[in-house]
Amino acid sequence: MNKIVIANLKMNLDYDEIKEYMKVMGSHSFEHLDLLIAPTSIYLDLLKDYKYPVVAQNLYCQDSGSFTGEISPKQLKSLGIHYAIVGHSERRNIFFENDMLVCQKVKACLKNNIVPILCIGERLEEQERADIVITEQLTRNLDGIPDCKDLIISYEPVWAIGTGLIPNDNDIKDRVQLIKDLMRQKYQKDVFVLYGGSVNKENCKSIMNIDDIDGVLVGSSSKDPIYFKEMLSNL
Ligand code: PGA
Repeated sequence: MNKIVIANLKMNLDYDEIKEYMKVMGSHSFEHLDLLIAPTSIYLDLLKDYKYPVVAQNLYCQDSGSFTGEISPKQLKSLGIHYAIVGHSERRNIFFENDMLVCQKVKACLKNNIVPILCIGERLEEQERADIVITEQLTRNLDGIPDCKDLIISYEPVWAIGTGLIPNDNDIKDRVQLIKDLMRQKYQKDVFVLYGGSVNKENCKSIMNIDDIDGVLVGSSSKDPIYFKEMLSNL
């Protein structure tokens, strides 16, 4: 089984830069990895037939309607897009998305056969009780979802995102196992669990080698294609 790497390009790269990015990343094959790219939404159409599957960074929970600035699961599906990040901490913290909305978005994805990549994780001040926070977040974000066909969870401690700080490998391993156990209890099945937060060239290999981890979600380190390509080639 290949490990998964998701490049979250966030609100980076202008039109010429994304085309260059596609050229550089497309010139190489990462046969040992399943690489997925999450560009800013205006580039989804540009990347929809690209070498790597494309991921929406966000979506709204309705199929259509008067929701200025939003994109719907139905629209994504009509472009042939099968993945969407849901509940990223930047959405929760900067755009005030709460657990209820995140849960509705997960449901909307599943209804439209889009695989939600659900991001969960504790804040700095919650570190001491991270297991409880993660358990509660997962319960609220999957409330009323009796079965989940496809779901990817990314464990992303909020304090590790964009800060250069990361938990030690043992802590990541414990949290990944906790999430897998919770999902087995709830759905009697295994789901993919990734880690996200300050993954870079120096730490990527050791994170990818943690027991049970299915891959990583990479933000800042994925936006320079030359750096990113080198990082992935060394795994
Ligand atoms: P980062 O972002 O790699 O820049 O910390 C991670 C993320 O988007 O979850």
